[in-house]
Amino acid sequence: VENAAEVAGEDGVRRRDWIHIAALGTAGVGGASVLLPLVSQMAPTADVLAASTTDVDISRVEAGQTIKATFRDQPLFIKRLTSEEIAAANEVDASSLRDPQTLADRTQVGYEDVLVTMGVCTHLGCVPLGAAEGENKGEFGGYYCPCHGSHYDTAGRIRKGPAPTNLAVPEYAFNGDVIRVG
Ligand code: FES
Repeated sequence: VENAAEVAGEDGVRRRDWIHIAALGTAGVGGASVLLPLVSQMAPTADVLAASTTDVDISRVEAGQTIKATFRDQPLFIKRLTSEEIAAANEVDASSLRDPQTLADRTQVGYEDVLVTMGVCTHLGCVPLGAAEGENKGEFGGYYCPCHGSHYDTAGRIRKGPAPTNLAVPEYAFNGDVIRVG
């Protein structure tokens, strides 16, 4: 895995660079006044997403695993979906969602099992946890934000909680099996 990205299984996740962000988030409502100035700096912008590059060899990622990288100092998730996770995403009527997108809208042709998203909750910018991380696993099998309880499904789409939109998908391209973000 290149560029300091880490392979993270569904358990035993190494959150090296940004566990402090999640820890801040667990301060919850009481810590909101402290948290807000910090998360406002973490929220991704189009400029930030287009301005840097992260390369990840997807052939080294097994189904169900997530690469957790840092992209322009913000968490980036690259997940190889299992067939069950793909099926769960595709069985949803996307038009009924808060931020209507299909899995195909959020992935690239030929790589529908590779989900690339920013690891930044679209509510106030905390780092969501994977479905099997910790006790507060998400209800929808994707990501769960411990700050205020937003749930994202296996396509990274917002399904429950205060977050207004799906996890952002940055600009990226494949060169063979290597994903270049940015
Ligand atoms: Fe509020 Fe994620 S930051 S739910």
